[in-house]
Amino acid sequence: MSDQYEKLAHFYDDFVQKNRNYYEIARGFSEIIGDNKNLLDIGIGTGLVVEHLLEINPSYNITGIDTSESLLEQARKKLGQKVDLYCQSVSELDVDKKFDVAYSRGGAWTFVNDESETMLASHILSSAEIKKSFQCVANHLKKGGLLIISSSNAYSNKLVELDNGIVHKKTATTELVDDERYAILGYFFYKGEELLAEQTLKLKLLSHQTYTSMLEEAGFVEGAIEPGKYCSYLKT
Ligand SMILES: C[S@@+](CC[C@H](N)C(=O)[O-])C[C@H]1O[C@@H](n2cnc3c(N)ncnc32)[C@H](O)[C@@H]1O
Repeated sequence: MSDQYEKLAHFYDDFVQKNRNYYEIARGFSEIIGDNKNLLDIGIGTGLVVEHLLEINPSYNITGIDTSESLLEQARKKLGQKVDLYCQSVSELDVDKKFDVAYSRGGAWTFVNDESETMLASHILSSAEIKKSFQCVANHLKKGGLLIISSSNAYSNKLVELDNGIVHKKTATTELVDDERYAILGYFFYKGEELLAEQTLKLKLLSHQTYTSMLEEAGFVEGAIEPGKYCSYLKT
């Protein structure tokens, strides 16, 4: 399984926490989660959302999956035995559990805004695999279970100074190949003039119509929407 985050794993917690408040994200999720307990984090990364969710409610029973072994390693250190972690793609999801709520906070997929349109940005590049990933989540949710996909501020250019004097530059461009749109995200880390690390990520962009019909095909209907924050879907 390819680890798309390997080169930036060392800097991950520092730069993402400059861009967003993970406690606030977890608090927002906990409001939607309500009394539900069995949660699946799709693309758990280093476990920042889960760390705060467990602070808010230690009785959550959380499973996390991710394709990046380097980020999972940090999640293991942060969360210890409190969470079940699997190095698994959501398009191959196969754990012997049913969940009340599954969510992706900038994980396998996220929502991004481009000009006037909201698009799904997916780390999974093949449409067939994206469809399969929604089906896999549906299969692991209880009837009436909830899928939450958050919106992300990742699709933008940025220049941020980290606490240790390292400067993080981020670039975001769009590429059109055979009528398919992709977001190309460049991550660069500098100490003075020296380039310490560099990673390019490619995400497939799907129109509202395309991702909605894929979700419907997998048995989801649209639930609560908080513009700019998240969309939720109910498993029928
Ligand atoms: C931007 S990071 C977000 C991590 C974490 N959710 C957070 O909020 O900090 C995207 C994560 O999704 C993971 N990911 C990408 N494709 C995936 C897939 N097919 N299945 C599960 N996780 C995936 C990446 O490895 C990475 O950890």
